[in-house]
Amino acid sequence: MNIIVISSSPNTEGLTAACAACAAEGVRLAGGNAQEIRLNDLAIKQCAACDNGWGTCQKEHECQKQDDFQPLHACIRQADAYVIVTPVYWGEMSESAKAFTDRLRRCEATLGSESRLSGKPVIAVAAAGGSGNGMITCLASMERWIQHVRARVFDLIPVNRWSRDYKLAAIRSAAQAMVQER
Ligand SMILES: Cc1cc2nc3c(=O)[nH]c(=O)nc-3n(C[C@H](O)[C@H](O)[C@H](O)COP(=O)(O)O)c2cc1C
Repeated sequence: MNIIVISSSPNTEGLTAACAACAAEGVRLAGGNAQEIRLNDLAIKQCAACDNGWGTCQKEHECQKQDDFQPLHACIRQADAYVIVTPVYWGEMSESAKAFTDRLRRCEATLGSESRLSGKPVIAVAAAGGSGNGMITCLASMERWIQHVRARVFDLIPVNRWSRDYKLAAIRSAAQAMVQER
């Protein structure tokens, strides 16, 4: 089982990175193949809302804005399941997560039940390292995104500085369970 573990923080040693590492560890413990992607290492610009709002995403289900999105989109189509970890910024997902998920949603949601993510399980993690506020609003928007692309919520996990230790263990277990489910 091929799982893509996506993280979206500029910080390579923070809470987001720790959550992503635990998710990848859980996948591997269960015998799955974890491919770790750091969105902040890639050049994925925000959606340009081409033409009058829809570009090739609408009918061809591909993004016409050429950058690192296309190769990642190809990997996403092939994968069996996903873990998406974002830091909480202003109660929302980070800018790199938003840019990527916006563009992917346009390409896949327009396929309806034929979405290449259809029925595939997703674990979404919101890592709030500051006040601890905003985890739920962040996860709510991630849940909506999962529904739009017709994937399936496997788990939604909020993490803050105080819950760090036991939530890292929970993330590892959730990833293991997601692999074992198949
Ligand atoms: C622009 C910005 C907005 C943030 N907003 C929030 C927030 O709403 N709630 C919160 O608990 N932390 C907030 N933080 C703190 C981050 O969630 C925290 O630094 C988190 O640990 C980021 O993950 P990292 O450890 O991978 O950097 C914010 C940080 C930044 C840079």
